[in-house]
Amino acid sequence: MPEGPTFAEPAATALLLPFAGSRRELAEYETHGGYGSLRKAVGMSSQELVDEMIASNLRGRGGAGFPAGRKASFLAQAEPRYLVINADESEPGTFKDREIILRNPHALIEGVLIYLWMIRGAAAYIYIRGEYAKEASILEGAIAQARERGYVGAPLLGTDYVPEIVVHRGAGAYICGEETALLSSLNGDRGQPTAKPPFPAVSGAFKRPTLLNNVETVATVPTIIGMGGAAYAGVGTEQSTGTKLFSLSGHVQRPGNYEMPLSATYRDLIEVVGGGLPEGRSLKCFVPGGSSMPVLMPEQLDTGLAFEAVVAAGSMAGSGAVIVIDERTCMVRFALRTAEFYMHESCGKCTPCREGTRWIVELLRRMEAGLGSSEEIDLLLNICDRVEGNCLCVLGDACAMPVRSHIRNFRAEFEEHVTLGRCPCPDDAPMAELYPPLLRAPLPMVTV
Ligand SMILES: Cc1cc2nc3c(=O)[nH]c(=O)nc-3n(C[C@H](O)[C@H](O)[C@H](O)COP(=O)(O)O)c2cc1C
Repeated sequence: MPEGPTFAEPAATALLLPFAGSRRELAEYETHGGYGSLRKAVGMSSQELVDEMIASNLRGRGGAGFPAGRKASFLAQAEPRYLVINADESEPGTFKDREIILRNPHALIEGVLIYLWMIRGAAAYIYIRGEYAKEASILEGAIAQARERGYVGAPLLGTDYVPEIVVHRGAGAYICGEETALLSSLNGDRGQPTAKPPFPAVSGAFKRPTLLNNVETVATVPTIIGMGGAAYAGVGTEQSTGTKLFSLSGHVQRPGNYEMPLSATYRDLIEVVGGGLPEGRSLKCFVPGGSSMPVLMPEQLDTGLAFEAVVAAGSMAGSGAVIVIDERTCMVRFALRTAEFYMHESCGKCTPCREGTRWIVELLRRMEAGLGSSEEIDLLLNICDRVEGNCLCVLGDACAMPVRSHIRNFRAEFEEHVTLGRCPCPDDAPMAELYPPLLRAPLPMVTV
């Protein structure tokens, strides 16, 4: 993740992020029409708002791409009901929600208020990644401004409904981004996933019906209500509507967050907006949607950014983190560093994930050190098969999927480690440019 937020030049279609600078102040946000959608929403019934979200066909921006309107329509009607916003953002390469909070926090707060009104929620909890201390205080400052203006903690715009928003800081665990683990943590239990059903729509925060969405999903709600769901659905593709933020990092000239219409392609993002690879470098592959996703190859650059296009290309759009990898990068080392993250973050509750991620890391360490064998490459694939689809949540899959993809696409490189008895790319610089040092702390190697 780049050091701080990067204020990248926006793409042609910017619905979510202001074109330049920030709109951190409420007055500034209101000058640009902010909180106008909330006023419109208060004149609408819950069902009308849900219908508008369904018409927009907005797909959740947290990773799975589930239709937001349909999710809202599932919420059980028993009272009290809660709204929970997932601001845990911890996947390597993903730093988009952070930029929304830093540059346009009132878009999130307005979205929260519209959603709260829609479900007549008892309160909203914004569960924010523990390391996002600055972002949490900016959010708290923006909520305080909204409170002072009478949008929070007071009857909402002439109604008798009183919305309340609470910022809840996590303690720095990637697993708490998974919705059931997040809710366990919020409820004061250990932050570990639980089996579904019950789904959060029936039993979530404080064991009550809960609507849980990602920051970007909710920050998009004011735009949808403002322009109307059908108009919003006119941007992007039929199955992936609107614009989405993409966190572009790795070996690219202009890393940063870019808002792109979902009808654009990876070539538009990487080569046009991102400026392509640094002079003299060539593309080896790219991660299309967060470190857990299978990589795509250079000949797949014209793949659309739309959810369905990435699936057709053999991967997933996930959270929208695009990591560009140049030809100098050792794919065994990249697989190892990625797997180490997931092993470290496995909560240990279910055996396939706890043991599987550990075995994947141990075999990759042997491979990278030149101690592996051809059979161990197949053993790695076998372990990936046993992990994927067999865990309580998809953290185990998130480790297995990229490793399998790296072996499938770059098997010759794995074999070369075996035949040479060492890593053929001794230069660590390409890796250091992909992942921050924290993820690269050396771990002791265990002999298999
Ligand atoms: C291990 C793991 C980590 C996750 N981390 C996040 C996260 O940081 N932020 C997020 O919004 N969703 C994350 N998700 C997805 C959430 O479980 C959930 O699908 C999402 O918050 C729903 O929001 P949406 O429908 O608006 O996309 C994670 C899932 C898994 C399995």
